Amino acid sequence: MQLDLEFVRSQFPAFSEPSLKGWAFFENAGGSYPCMQVIHRLIGFYMKNKVQPHYPYPASMLAGELMDVSYKRMADYLNVNESEIHFGPSTTQNVYVLANAMRPMWSDGDEIIVSCQDHEANAGAWRRLADRGMKVVEWHVHPETGLLSLDVLEGLFSDRTRMVAFPHCSNVIGHINPVKEISQRARQHGALSVVDGVGYAPHGFPDMKELSADIYLFSTYKTLGPHLGVMYVNKELIGKMENQSHFFKEGITRSMLTPAGPDHAQIAAASGILDYFDAVYEHHFDEEAAPAQRNSAIVRLFREHEKALLERLLDFLRSRDDVRIVGPDTTEERVPIVSIIPINKDLKMVYATLTKHKLMLGIGHFYAVRPFMDMDIPIEPGVLRISFLHYTRMEEIDQLIAGLKAALDE
Ligand SMILES: Cc1ncc(COP(=O)(O)O)c(C=O)c1O
Repeated sequence: MQLDLEFVRSQFPAFSEPSLKGWAFFENAGGSYPCMQVIHRLIGFYMKNKVQPHYPYPASMLAGELMDVSYKRMADYLNVNESEIHFGPSTTQNVYVLANAMRPMWSDGDEIIVSCQDHEANAGAWRRLADRGMKVVEWHVHPETGLLSLDVLEGLFSDRTRMVAFPHCSNVIGHINPVKEISQRARQHGALSVVDGVGYAPHGFPDMKELSADIYLFSTYKTLGPHLGVMYVNKELIGKMENQSHFFKEGITRSMLTPAGPDHAQIAAASGILDYFDAVYEHHFDEEAAPAQRNSAIVRLFREHEKALLERLLDFLRSRDDVRIVGPDTTEERVPIVSIIPINKDLKMVYATLTKHKLMLGIGHFYAVRPFMDMDIPIEPGVLRISFLHYTRMEEIDQLIAGLKAALDE
């Protein structure tokens, strides 16, 4: 079974938008195109339900229901309990709140291990706990490959380790870390795992039960949806954390980790992502299935398609001796996020030529400053990042390769 790309692309207004015609989008790790189901729900909420939710008059009741449905459906898709899903403004802010909520769980001198492969979102707020009595232990990446090693991790644990923070996959290297194994090791040492899934989730939602991390975060503006951060927090944990909301919200789990009033319309619109996933499932499969099973079926379709495209791109990049691929150069255990550095060519000039070829890409450090420090890659100008999703076409990869050839050969 192959992904029906025409069907997939018909669900994204950006692909029929005249002003974007001819432009190939390769900055998906920065933020994806939204599917039409999300846009419709967002507009619908603003048109009909933009009132304070959960009062007993019709527009308000429906506003509340539309939001509640998003919590429930997101939980079902991720295979967790509804009370374990928290929508906040962004992953950066969610981690910031978490760090404050979790600090009182620990004593002065307790240790947390923080990876150096992370985007700063899952690093800075934890590192700041060093000023509040915690010992921060750095889990460095390999200076050439950029990979995190489990053997290195093993040597970092002590009887005071309380938490390990690391990414499911880095937003510049794209290599998928073995979350289950790392989380299990952390657990064996009595430590919690906090996983930044922002780089991974756009390529298919994981099954949280299978993954077994204690806390998992991702951002829906990179998963075809509105600008929110989703946080899964194991329900055993929330009672141990300090309430970060108003004092009278103590015990209301949905509020305790989201002190800022959540964006109602965007929470309601988040369901649109799942409408889209349902539509993809129904288009490709006949059998009835529960959300978590539908999810794993479509994730397989997404990943296979992405892998074929990635293979073509990496074949091209490996054939060049004037480009460095940052991190591993194979399709194994990786999502299609590929950072490159041209050798002997000015990065910004290369970028400018790519733009002339109607290629939309990212350039810079992408807030992944720490992995670049470990790898001795200057953050200015940084790297050129190519990232795509299941809605990308092989023709767009060819357009990219043609642009890269022109930029590198000129
Ligand atoms: C891997 C990774 N983690 C975290 C973030 C931060 O997410 P947010 O913008 O929702 O704070 C990003 C954003 O680019 C990211 O790529």
